[in-house]
Amino acid sequence: MMLSLKQVEDYDQQGFLIIKDFISGSQRQALMQHAAQLIDAFEPQAKRSIFTTDEQERSSDDYFLKSASNISFFFEAKAIDNEGNFTVPKHQSINKIGHAQHLLDPVYKNIVKELDFANIGRALGIVQPRAVQSMHIFKQPSIGGEVGLHQDSTFLYTQPKSCIGFWLALEDATVENGCLQALPQGHKIPLKQRFKLSKNGGTEFECLDNTPWPKAPLALLEVPAGTLIILHGQLPHYSAANTSSKSRQAFTLHLVDDTCDYPEDNWLQPLKTL
Ligand code: FE2
Repeated sequence: MMLSLKQVEDYDQQGFLIIKDFISGSQRQALMQHAAQLIDAFEPQAKRSIFTTDEQERSSDDYFLKSASNISFFFEAKAIDNEGNFTVPKHQSINKIGHAQHLLDPVYKNIVKELDFANIGRALGIVQPRAVQSMHIFKQPSIGGEVGLHQDSTFLYTQPKSCIGFWLALEDATVENGCLQALPQGHKIPLKQRFKLSKNGGTEFECLDNTPWPKAPLALLEVPAGTLIILHGQLPHYSAANTSSKSRQAFTLHLVDDTCDYPEDNWLQPLKTL
């Protein structure tokens, strides 16, 4: 699709843009059914091994870093109790699937191609779009976790900054099930921190700007299924826990500009074997 001049202006002014009916019902169903099949085939350990805190940290860092270039499964924090036992059935335990299905999985790959995010990225200023990260997010009923206020450029940093996030509602997103919330015009504040590889092989946050978040209220981005929300990489956004009985599935894709420098200590290194 082509963005209108008005849409480009709105994005530049507000830091986000909402496009209703961006994805068809059949494309949404295809993504949700396919994710369910991937979860069918995924075999989590019945009981997680008990690690020391250090080992557990190392092991989860390792799984997380490898997910940059494969298709990994992450659990809702509340889906596993203190002893490492699942508190819910497998299909209700998954927080997200990521981060390279747009490159590796034919179903995701095809739909991403059909939707032509690269073209939208170009309209919004990216010279050479590169899709670096995808996530299928579940926000499970009753236990779907909160995602704290953050800027996506923190995780996908380039010089100059170029990240754009595409957030597709696969199901209705409401206040009750934890819709996105964003700070209008917040993309004009500096990037606060950078998430990067640390010297010891783990990850760390580097502070870039320590002024507090602006006090202005967040806009509640309640949207029907099929809607695309485009997020500027510096736009602060948040989503609350899902305490309702309805899931809130979303698919996200992030683009960066390949003409910008992509640092070697970014956490996500898709071209390297980790
Ligand atoms: Fe985000």
